[in-house]
Parts: sequence; C-alpha cells; structure tokens
Amino acid sequence: MVEIVIQKKIKSFNKVIKVDGDKSLSIRSLLIGSQSYGLCKIKNLSKSEDIISTIKGLKKLGIKIFFKKKICHLYGNGLSGFNFRKNISIDAGNSGTFARLLLGLLIKTPYEIKLVGDESLSKRDFQRIMDPLKEFGAKFKSKNRSYLPVKILGSEFLKPINYFEKRGSAQCKSSVILAALNTPGKTIINAKKSRDHTELFLKHLKVPLKIINKKKYDIIKIVGENQFKSFNYEIPGDISSSAFFIVLTLLSNNSRLKIKNVNVNPSRIGFVKILNKMGAKIKFVNVRYMYGEKLADICVNSQKNLKPINCPVELNSNAIDEFLIIFLLASKASGISSFKRLEELNKKESPRLKLASKILKKIGVKARLGPGSIKIFGNPKLKINKKILINNYYKDHRIFMTSVIAALSLGGKWTIQDMESHRSSFPSFFKILQKIGYKF
Ligand code: S3P
Repeated sequence: MVEIVIQKKIKSFNKVIKVDGDKSLSIRSLLIGSQSYGLCKIKNLSKSEDIISTIKGLKKLGIKIFFKKKICHLYGNGLSGFNFRKNISIDAGNSGTFARLLLGLLIKTPYEIKLVGDESLSKRDFQRIMDPLKEFGAKFKSKNRSYLPVKILGSEFLKPINYFEKRGSAQCKSSVILAALNTPGKTIINAKKSRDHTELFLKHLKVPLKIINKKKYDIIKIVGENQFKSFNYEIPGDISSSAFFIVLTLLSNNSRLKIKNVNVNPSRIGFVKILNKMGAKIKFVNVRYMYGEKLADICVNSQKNLKPINCPVELNSNAIDEFLIIFLLASKASGISSFKRLEELNKKESPRLKLASKILKKIGVKARLGPGSIKIFGNPKLKINKKILINNYYKDHRIFMTSVIAALSLGGKWTIQDMESHRSSFPSFFKILQKIGYKF
C-alpha cells in the first residue's frame, strides 16, 4: 500500500490539457469489436486497469489483441465467435462495466465460464443482470446468490425478450443489448434514461437497431444475429476524468483550464448542468460529432461565488459518476445543497453516499445523510488547517481522486492511502496534475 501526503494547495494555473480516453467507450469498443468481423483499429484507448482487465478477459476468449504504434489492433471473430477451452475463469478486476456487459455476450457459451472480480466488485449486485439474461435462456450458478463469483452457461435455444430497465443503469441496458445481438428475433428494451454509448456505437455500425427517445425512457429495438463489419474508432477524452480538473479549477484562485477533445454526449453531462446551475460557467467550444458521439473542448475559470443547489433528480443518472466531486463543490457553496434519490450511489465501487458524508464531516463540513439522500451545508470560507487521513474506502478510484482535489483546493495536511487506486479509471491523473503545476 502506497500513500500520498499533500500539504500544499495548488498555485494559480492557466493550461490546456487532454485527459485519458473515455472508459465507457474504451470497454464498449473492445467488446463490440470482439463481435465484429475482421480487424478493428482503436486509437486513444484508455490504459486504465479496467481496460487491461477487459483486454485480458477477451484474450482468454480467443480474441487476438495487440498494440502497434500505440493503436489497439483487435481481430473480431463475428457474433458468438469466442473460442476457448473448458473451465476458464475470467477476472473482471474492479470493472463492473466489463463484468456486466461481458455476461451479455456470453449467453450462448457452450461451456460454463466463471466470472470473478476483486473485493469491491465481489460486493456489487449481479442479480440485476442475471435476471434478464436468464429470460433469454442463460443459466447461472453462484454460491452467494447475487454476487461474484458466478458461473454462466449459455443456451443454443435463446429467445428475444421484452425488458424494462427501471434503475437508469447503462450497464444493465447495454448487457441486454449485447445479449440481443446474439439472439434470433427482436428484443425490445424500455430503459430509463442513461448513457447511450452502446446504442450509438451499434447504430454507427449499421446494426439493425431502432431507438425511440421518450421524455423519461428510451425504447430500443434490436434484431439479433446480424453480422457486422470491423471498424476504426478513436476514443475521445473522458468527461468523468475531466470532472476532477474542472472542479479543481473552479475552487482554485485565478485559474483557467481548457480540456481538449472530450466526449460531451448529452447523456454524460448532467454534471456540467449541475455545476452551471451552481454558478460555474463551463463552456463547450469547437463542438463536433464523430461516430454519432458529440465532442468538444471544455473551458472553465475559477469561480468564487458558488450557489447551493436543490439537485433535480432527472440529472442523477447522467451525473452518476460525478457526485463525489459535486459534493466537494457543494461544500464551498453559500448555503444548503440537497441531493435525493441517490440509492444507486451506495452500489458503486464503494458505498459512496455513506463514505462522502463521513469524509465531509472529517473535513468540517456539516452533512445530513438519508437512505438515498444527502444535505450539504456549504461554507464559502471553508479552509482546512488540520491533519486528514483518508483510509478504508474500498480503494474506490473516485474517492481517491476527489480527496486529492479537496487537499489541493482546501489546504490542510492530507494523507491518502492506496494511491494506486486511481489507476482503475485514470492512470494519467498525476501526470496531468504535474502539468498544471503541482510538485509532489
Ligand atoms: C457505466 C455505467 C454506470 C457508471 C459506470 C460506467 C457504463 O453504471 O456508474 O461507471 O459504462 O455503462 P450503472 O449503469 O450501473 O449506473
């Protein structure tokens, strides 16, 4: 275990940066590529541990993947084209997205495959994904009902399903879409709004898939067993990684930041909408579209006057990975912010809502926690002069990086344990901090 000690705030900065490739799109490009026919070339793939787990897992399933001049080359074997030995076990590491999406692709597997994960992933619910996949015809075995390790056995006689996704979980929706690709007939999904990368990706590849956008739900219809060709793809920057640097800029004095080439898909920018309602003036410039995805450069300046927010619940799913860093900003707002219906936040890499309230109290911010809600009593004069220890947080990458941003913007002497945890989503985090002027 390596820990980091931070005892200096960051100085004013005015920089242009790039962040790592988007994690959701990196995982999807590999998984969808594995089902295509031929050679895929993927540029700017994230180098995070979640992506390394995805590559290792796919290699075990017989997919050839290698890097040439930093470009990921992957040979897809077509739908249901996995080729592997009996009794294999796949380790998804910390990645809920890889684990849940992969199960969707395994519904035809003729031999049992065991899926395992790290300590944090083994505490997360898999019932939510086993239930719809069983309806297609897959079978599951697990000692501990809803949790990993699970064994999946596919079926030759799959049938399409009608699925209602009520949580706003893109992982559940995407897993069912991937299962539908390998199933004859038409699968119909009614999904509460959530990130729509899987649908956009497959549409771009001309897979027979229809999306009907309603106000709160999307209806997705997919006709399965249609082979599609390989592709070239370039992964844009990750908005969830950008969020840490956006908040650092907002909370620092006289600073300015431009983040180039970021994915600003409307289903991912709930966080920007929330921050702008709080008085941030985050702007998208150089807006463009690629492979059906919206991209832009993001510009942000320091902001002294932050307003509290009564956060609209419709934005919850579109900002789900950014709430920790939003809570940090709320702790410097001039009043009480309120966030509701966030039960899902306790089902992430750690029980994030509970841990956020503990950490806020540790740093002297009053917070009132409910079962799925939190009220944060902001203080624009908040400064820290004491020692803060961040430990026992299930190595949750987003808790780690939020704590580093808090230390760099609020002061105090922070010791943050398990420094390696940031690698599961954002390995360049420290390199970029150095670029904007922080000396470790
Ligand atoms: C993701 C979906 C979200 C998110 C996760 C990535 C995805 O999870 O929290 O980090 O790439 O589909 P849920 O779908 O479970 O909310």
